[in-house]
Amino acid sequence: MGGILVYVLLFLTTLLSYLFLRKHIREPQKRAKLPPGSMGWPYMGQTLQLYSQDPNVFFSTKQKRYGEIFKTHILGCPCVMLGSPEAARFVLVTQAHLFKPTYPKSKEKMIGPSALFFHQGDYHTRLRKLVQGSCSPTAIRNLVPDIEAIAVSALESWAGQHVVNTFHEMKKFSFDVGILSIFGHLDTYYREELKKNYSIVDKGYNSFPANLPGTAYHNAVLARKRLNDILSGIICERKEKRLLEKDLLGCLLNSKDEKGQNLTDDQIADNIIGVLFAAQDTTASVLTWILKYLHDDQELLESAEQKAIYETNNIGNQPLTWAQTRNMPFTYRVILESLRMASIISFTFREAVTDVEYKGYLIPKGWKVLPLFRNIHHNPDFFTDPQDFDPSRFEVSPKPNTFMPFGNGVHACPGNELAKLEILILIHHLVTKFKWEVVGSQSGIQYSPFPVPQHGLPASIEGYDA
Ligand code: HEM
Repeated sequence: MGGILVYVLLFLTTLLSYLFLRKHIREPQKRAKLPPGSMGWPYMGQTLQLYSQDPNVFFSTKQKRYGEIFKTHILGCPCVMLGSPEAARFVLVTQAHLFKPTYPKSKEKMIGPSALFFHQGDYHTRLRKLVQGSCSPTAIRNLVPDIEAIAVSALESWAGQHVVNTFHEMKKFSFDVGILSIFGHLDTYYREELKKNYSIVDKGYNSFPANLPGTAYHNAVLARKRLNDILSGIICERKEKRLLEKDLLGCLLNSKDEKGQNLTDDQIADNIIGVLFAAQDTTASVLTWILKYLHDDQELLESAEQKAIYETNNIGNQPLTWAQTRNMPFTYRVILESLRMASIISFTFREAVTDVEYKGYLIPKGWKVLPLFRNIHHNPDFFTDPQDFDPSRFEVSPKPNTFMPFGNGVHACPGNELAKLEILILIHHLVTKFKWEVVGSQSGIQYSPFPVPQHGLPASIEGYDA
């Protein structure tokens, strides 16, 4: 009898716990409501507005109207946009497991599905460590002379032309530095083949994904296949030589998982294309903005810092050292302020893997979630007079989670040290040896796909001794 009572009690406790849990697990979702905001037209939503307006205007108008969290429709997807440091941290850091990276399928195919930024979990962690290792200060300090040679040769070639499209030239520079960090000294034949085919992929990447003969997208799909063949050739040669290089390719080739398995050639190729993709337009857009900011505020150029280094290096006849690149505090603050002002990555995309509640609002499973870096970087609560270009604001560190030009959390940029190093080196040579003029209209923004000054900032550059 006592035994039966125990069973009945156990059954009732289990039933009650089940009902209680069911009520309380479901209840927040029932109670939570969608964030405020307008969804726009069903397919295009507010995409046109976003890509035709000054990005500062689009986001700040919305945030003023609805607050730090609002819903909208971008590229056919319902989205929730989040414009506060706490919300960005929630999505990218503390609750990152509830949100996965998300990219259109056509873009994933073009870059290669094994590239790290499409992944989460063990595979992502493994690949991330490899990329981070090859871009760490210890690894990149040896690249200073080579990056310097690339920068000097780029600047000299611009000076030989009447007008250059600054953004296009910066893309060539960041591509060459990307190739250097991935392969070290690469045979000229391979470098030219990679450059030629990658630029076809680059043109198709942002075009309409119609795989029909003659379209930019179709050409890009074919060029992407050729890139795989070229990379296979490079990988094969490297394996034959059995060299233990410390560049990214070396790290990818030497990596073994816990079962002792190497990465496949396709995984290596996708990650190489992925890194080139992540490194090129980002760095080039920031450099283009830096040239504009330096041009707009001539006094910045007159900083004694770069001149002193130039003189120490026997008026530029001796190479820059790693130590010198680590001791350019004023130029470094100009870079930070340019990253803030331009906020070229205005936001990033994640997708909710389950229904999530944030501050009483429901973010439904499958909706895109966009932490808005630009809003945070332009919020006067965190950056006084945010529209003013003022490097001195970085004499004091920004409040935690308010400055995220390289993202935050598990997917934050592993290439940020390399990006800053190549920018510092290029600026040193630019401001000590060259003068330049922006040609034509100096206002307006275009998306390439990141915001850059209109027409890529046409400029004429000339050496001081010309
Ligand atoms: C100024 C230049 C750069 C900026 C502003 C920038 C910005 C960013 C941002 C914001 C993210 C995070 C995206 C997200 O959370 O969705 C990111 C990720 C990434 N960046 Fe950069 N980046 C720059 C240069 C570079 C360079 C030079 C490299 C390579 C050497 C690189 C490689 C990557 C990779 C591989 C990822 C994906 C990381 C992951 O998913 O774990 N980036 N970058």
